[in-house]
Amino acid sequence: MARTQNQTLTDKNKLDLLVEFGWRVSHETNLDALLELTAKQVTNILGTKRCFIFIKDEEAGELWSKTVRGKGLEYTEIHLPLKGPSIAAQVCQSGHTINLPDAYADKRFSKEVDLVTGFKTNSLLAVPLKNKENVTIGVLQVSNKIDATPFSKKDEGLLKLMANLAAGKIEIAKLYEEVKLSNLETIYRLAITAEYRDQADTKQHIENIEQISYLIARGLGLEESRAQTIKHASALHDIGKIAIPDNILLKPGKLSPEEFEIMKRHTVYGGKILGGAQSSLLKIAHKMSLYHHERFDGTGYPEGLKGEEIPLEARIVAVADVFDALCMKRCYKKPWDIMKAYQFIIDQSEKAFDPHAVKAFKKIFSKIKSIYKSCKDL
Ligand code: C2E
Ligand code: SIN
Ligand code: SIN
Ligand code: FE
Repeated sequence: MARTQNQTLTDKNKLDLLVEFGWRVSHETNLDALLELTAKQVTNILGTKRCFIFIKDEEAGELWSKTVRGKGLEYTEIHLPLKGPSIAAQVCQSGHTINLPDAYADKRFSKEVDLVTGFKTNSLLAVPLKNKENVTIGVLQVSNKIDATPFSKKDEGLLKLMANLAAGKIEIAKLYEEVKLSNLETIYRLAITAEYRDQADTKQHIENIEQISYLIARGLGLEESRAQTIKHASALHDIGKIAIPDNILLKPGKLSPEEFEIMKRHTVYGGKILGGAQSSLLKIAHKMSLYHHERFDGTGYPEGLKGEEIPLEARIVAVADVFDALCMKRCYKKPWDIMKAYQFIIDQSEKAFDPHAVKAFKKIFSKIKSIYKSCKDL
């Protein structure tokens, strides 16, 4: 018989893995990464086929788990009602461990999750995740040991230990994520406020700009976190339009030269609104709002910066902004055909736009096209 993974782990191996786990958990701040790390190590140390880390969401009245290990189920998300019959919900409500040597023979076990996942639970062990105040914030649950034995008292001890190591960090990472989310939500709402006067579909416009900016950033080889910041910051590029009077912003026809001069000030206003910001996201939004109408050949506004004098983030959003403006309906213009808009961007390489940004745009254009295909107004 082939030796299974768990049988090869001695107590010394397990201790080493536990120490490593404690160290890695204490150094991870990203919630997803933390959950993945925990699931991986728990599965490994206990020698099980599957691990759920359920997080309690009081408001939604449910437990959710992102990290599902096992064949074909790598990262699906499952949701269980907090007041439902699942083992996880029972552990979460009571705060007590449940250890089922034979799940289907136990009245406490309901088959509902197995029916959804197509996985047959034999044995199951679930312990509460408790924070420093001893409040249960979730449940750590494993099922089916590789060697097909029930979970022992020793397994219970190990799982509780790992739950204690992970719980505090999971709670902090979750709070941090919530703060980050609420920040992004505020920024998004601010962007909607600024754009909603002159856009037929503000939400769509902002989402398009975000997506295109993100894709160009990735196409340029920028790393994921920087591309994410660029994505969120790009939503604010026209924030300065908030200071432009209606009679100009909403004029159905062509602007007179004097009116266009006033219109051009939306860049400077944006720069003022976001000037002196502290967060890296708003610092980038500041550069974008101030410089998104600069042109690579130096004939843009407000400062006439040229080439790489224009911050990279502004060179990226410039492409996204013009492409989306061309494709969308405006009070002063009809929407362009998407391929005509594409050609315009290509033709403006080195004139209006950074050739590298245009190259990246070209590279990811099939993705952009599918965004616009699914966009109902076009
Ligand atoms: P926007 O509508 O968001 O357009 C952003 C940029 O997309 C424009 O910057 C321009 O570079 C490009 N763009 C948009 N539509 C066209 C087009 O039909 N042809 C070409 N070749 N490019 C186009 P720009 O020109 O600096 O304008 C900045 C903002 O000023 C525009 O933002 C819009 O709010 C306003 N604006 C510009 N022209 C007019 C106009 O004739 N009438 C009105 N009511 N507003 C205008
Ligand atoms: C349960 O929590 O009742 C079962 C979840 C599972 O399929 O492991
Ligand atoms: C417009 O005036 O409609 C857009 C200006 C431009 O062609 O850049
Ligand atoms: Fe603008």
